[in-house]
Amino acid sequence: MEPGDSSEEPPLPLALERFQLSEEYGSLLPEPLTELPEPYGPWMEIAHDLPELITSHRLRSRVHQMPHLSTRHLHGRKELHLAHLVLSFITMGYLWQEGEEGTVKVLPQNLAVPFWEVSQALGLPPILSHADIVLANWRRKNPNGPLEIDNLDTIIALPGGESLRGFILVTLLVEKAAVPGFKAIVEAVRAVLQLDEETLHRALQDMAEAIRDMSKALKRMHGNSILGWKDNPAMPDGLIYEGVSDEPMEYSGGSAAQSTILHAFDELLGIRHSEESAAFLHRMRGYMPPPHRAFVEEIHRAPSLKQLVLSSGDTRLHEAFNQCVSALVDFRSYHITIVTKYISVAAAKAKAGRAEQGTKAGSSIGKPPSALEAKGTGGSHIFCFLKSIRDTTREGMISA
Ligand code: HEM
Repeated sequence: MEPGDSSEEPPLPLALERFQLSEEYGSLLPEPLTELPEPYGPWMEIAHDLPELITSHRLRSRVHQMPHLSTRHLHGRKELHLAHLVLSFITMGYLWQEGEEGTVKVLPQNLAVPFWEVSQALGLPPILSHADIVLANWRRKNPNGPLEIDNLDTIIALPGGESLRGFILVTLLVEKAAVPGFKAIVEAVRAVLQLDEETLHRALQDMAEAIRDMSKALKRMHGNSILGWKDNPAMPDGLIYEGVSDEPMEYSGGSAAQSTILHAFDELLGIRHSEESAAFLHRMRGYMPPPHRAFVEEIHRAPSLKQLVLSSGDTRLHEAFNQCVSALVDFRSYHITIVTKYISVAAAKAKAGRAEQGTKAGSSIGKPPSALEAKGTGGSHIFCFLKSIRDTTREGMISA
């Protein structure tokens, strides 16, 4: 097993390729593989049948019969990402097959050990994260067709059918809309280093446009949410990865809070969130592929763009800067709207449904966790968090 794709070239200042990012795909894995090499047939078969196996309560027994495969036949970043995607979806299904009330404390060795090894090779945690659900989980129906919703599909699915698929694909479209934003960030950082105000102005305009396009893509969302087990009352003790450690481990679930681009914009524009919110967002960086995390950290270390804009006294630059911040505020406001719509309704439904349905197969997968109800607030702590982030973004504006 080897991570692959490592380069010996001397690093360019903030070149996207150094961070496994690209001008064509941004942080998406470019054209992900959809099949693993032949020895991994048993994983792929289970992964392709996941929705069926979960709803018929047969996944756990299938996993128990699964051979313990060595990871040494996996080569290169794309195979490793597909293996991580497949094993993380199988793990999710294994844990939640019987709903929130029937979770397990131990992940069996034949699943836990290869999942752990692949995670180590990629520098990702052994759980389904945004890097799996979205970045590595897409394929073109027509290989020569465009990256548009009608031509896109997920590689691996969970029960939740069309709504979960729609959630994944719309999030993918938000990531796609963010692609020119990555290029603009690189140009802006270089322009700051070279004190090139003309280029900086253009880069800020491009960035604002990319953020506005991300909001447009977000408006197509009618979605779902995915579970982790950190802070989840259904799994208060975490999970033991058998054959890896005897101690239970805790991880958060997949969330677009793990998406690189918003972290990168915040760093570049010098936006400072409250201590508590920043701590959560920083923790989410641990769920990004390490090169993407390194990109965000490099922007953090770069000379301050905001300082340059302030000291330039150039009103055009002030305006372009504020347009970026304002586009980011709008994105976050719209996000709050969809979260309100989705979570409030779904949390109420889950509460009513739990009494009615008991532990219907797979019923917890793709629903908001009981953590949302646990505080008896319909998730108000989540809204406080999201609003705090939105409001501190607004405070990042330069006043006239
Ligand atoms: C129905 C759809 C969605 C729901 C229910 C939802 C829910 C949430 C929730 C509950 C959080 C709080 C942190 C957490 O628990 O992980 C969050 C954070 C976040 N979400 Fe979403 N989300 C949705 C779609 C999206 C999409 C499509 C994006 C685009 C990439 C996105 C981007 C973010 C970001 C960046 C954060 C971190 C907070 C911030 O930087 O403003 N979300 N989301």
